[in-house]
Amino acid sequence: MGSFASRLREKAERADSRIILAFDPAGEYREVDRARELLSRLSDKVAGIKLGLPSLLAYGPGGVRRLMEGIEGPFICDLKMADIGYVNRLVAGEVFGLGFEALIAHAFIGIREGLGEVVELARERGKGVLAVCAMSHRGAEEYLNRHYLELAEASLSAGADGLVLPATFPELLKEARRRHPEALILSPGVGVQGSPFGSALRAGADFEIVGRALVFSPSPRERAEEIRREMGGWKGERSPRR
Ligand code: XMP
Repeated sequence: MGSFASRLREKAERADSRIILAFDPAGEYREVDRARELLSRLSDKVAGIKLGLPSLLAYGPGGVRRLMEGIEGPFICDLKMADIGYVNRLVAGEVFGLGFEALIAHAFIGIREGLGEVVELARERGKGVLAVCAMSHRGAEEYLNRHYLELAEASLSAGADGLVLPATFPELLKEARRRHPEALILSPGVGVQGSPFGSALRAGADFEIVGRALVFSPSPRERAEEIRREMGGWKGERSPRR
């Protein structure tokens, strides 16, 4: 079956895309069937699909299962988990049970009795864990982003499958990539948050997380195609290292 990272890269190559769609329901998409239509129209244009707490609250776990049914992911669950290991493990078990291939957890909780327990469960289930080491909003500079290198190092040593680092602070991406040439890096912050499409890839990310620019586009499929071209597809400016 391979690791989560290899499954993600395999889909990326097939879709010729480095876009991870971040879908968060608002407006018409609070209706699960409308959301399903959108995801089905975009799934072959993206490398993966990220859902989070807004979807779980809007549709409930059963609705999320229905949303994903028959649509090609891989699906990543972004709850930015940050509880003690025991609770994280319970939540991760539910998330993987719903059919998600990977989840996003905060690295700042630390490894022992924290992220480590999530990684352990993911290994047992053949799933992936992506660790948030820095964030894209301004407030992230106040505390979290000052520690991104320690967090990246600790997460990878603990066996996390990849890192989440912000496109809005490209110097962080560059430095993390320099130190971890082989790590899988996903980057939010392009589009509505202000960084140009493709900029995170050029700074060292493998994938760019794109939300509102696609979800609220009047023609999402055509927009995905434009963004994909701007990023350069899978074999664009940034060629795969493996
Ligand atoms: P857009 O493109 O709409 O994307 O701005 C919003 C989505 O991206 C997620 N997001 C982040 N996730 N670290 C994360 O792990 C971040 O720094 C970050 N910034 C945005 C957000 O949850 C939403 O799904």
